[in-house]
Amino acid sequence: MFKVAVLPGDGIGPEVMAQAMKILKKIEKKYSVKFDCKFSDVGGIAIDNYGEPLPQHTLKLCEESDAILFGSVGGPKWENLPPEKQPERGALLPLRKHFNLFVNIRPVKVYPALKESCSLKDKFIQQGLDIVILRELTGGIYFGQPKYISEDRNYAVDTMKYTVEEIKRIAKVAFETARLRKKIVTSVDKANVLMTSVLWREIVTELWEKDYPDIKLNHMYVDNAAMQLVRNPSQFDVILTENMFGDILSDEAAMLTGSLGMLPSASLNERGFGLYEPIGGTAPDIAGQNIANPTAQILSAALMLRYSFKMDDAARDIENALENLIAKGARTSDIFYGDPGTYKVSTEEFGDELAELI
Ligand code: NAD
Ligand code: IPM
Ligand code: MN
Repeated sequence: MFKVAVLPGDGIGPEVMAQAMKILKKIEKKYSVKFDCKFSDVGGIAIDNYGEPLPQHTLKLCEESDAILFGSVGGPKWENLPPEKQPERGALLPLRKHFNLFVNIRPVKVYPALKESCSLKDKFIQQGLDIVILRELTGGIYFGQPKYISEDRNYAVDTMKYTVEEIKRIAKVAFETARLRKKIVTSVDKANVLMTSVLWREIVTELWEKDYPDIKLNHMYVDNAAMQLVRNPSQFDVILTENMFGDILSDEAAMLTGSLGMLPSASLNERGFGLYEPIGGTAPDIAGQNIANPTAQILSAALMLRYSFKMDDAARDIENALENLIAKGARTSDIFYGDPGTYKVSTEEFGDELAELI
């Protein structure tokens, strides 16, 4: 039996999480396993119900679980609270830090049947697009101290800091990941401006020379990388980058797959404990309408099976079923353009049809 802390959060979180639950139920039957899923509030809903975004009982549930399946948090309702009380800074970032989830894996895949949804012309993705963004998740400007607005509100400070150890451990994961793939690592930084990037480049290069000469290593400035992602994304295999660059580039990369609602992520620590969440947010503009794309949440559950529970067959089963459902023509409204052979489905219908295919 695997214990899962399920934290749907806000906005579309609960709607897409419900679909992931349908899929996990099917997997339980088919693979004779049991997922002990315990739900708890996090983010805005936890502020509403308990006065704080990450209540003690929610954190305790996470600590007692084998993995965390996370929806997303935040929204207009809580945007005017003091910054540290808001759902993102008060729940998601502390969770990442608490469990030391320094590795954030964001796979970017274009499904053949969704090629028409890619914002780029077919010829630029004809080799098929399969990238992994490895985002450092517990360092950099997100967490560096000091971080404050001056008392007179005349200036504000954020600090971008990286230690050698923080760079080394994520770089190692990137090289190891590339070894099982096309053996290309593109390390993205801003070494022409930032000192953290100068050190980043040095450490990545040293590690590569010492332990990974079989991997092809490229360094790329982040502004160029943003451009290359839409110019010719198939040049990338593993993108290794720091926290904020990874945040921005992964939203950009999501559009290559057709929608932000497509991309899952796994955030892992040194012992392999993981939190799994869509890369996108609570989508307040479409929340409560049963139209959100549950793919990212469902694929996040698949990543949980793969990385935390070592159930690679079941994970692949979900990924294949998803590919088949898309090939069959099912589209949520974010990727529905009325093309022949496609039909529009709601969030719930997508979940139901997918469950049927497993
Ligand atoms: P967002 O990712 O919520 O939405 C951006 C756009 O993408 C919207 O038009 C939205 O409708 C669309 N979109 C996102 N997911 C979708 C899905 N599954 N299906 C269909 N369309 C989808 O980003 P935002 O609007 O900048 O942020 C809204 C809130 O979410 C903010 O409070 C933000 O801080 C929060 N947020 C949370 C997380 C997280 O919890 N991991 C991540 C990103 C943003
Ligand atoms: C993400 C989100 C978060 C981030 C926010 C909500 C704190 O955008 O997971 O990509 O910036 O890491
Ligand atoms: Mn983001």
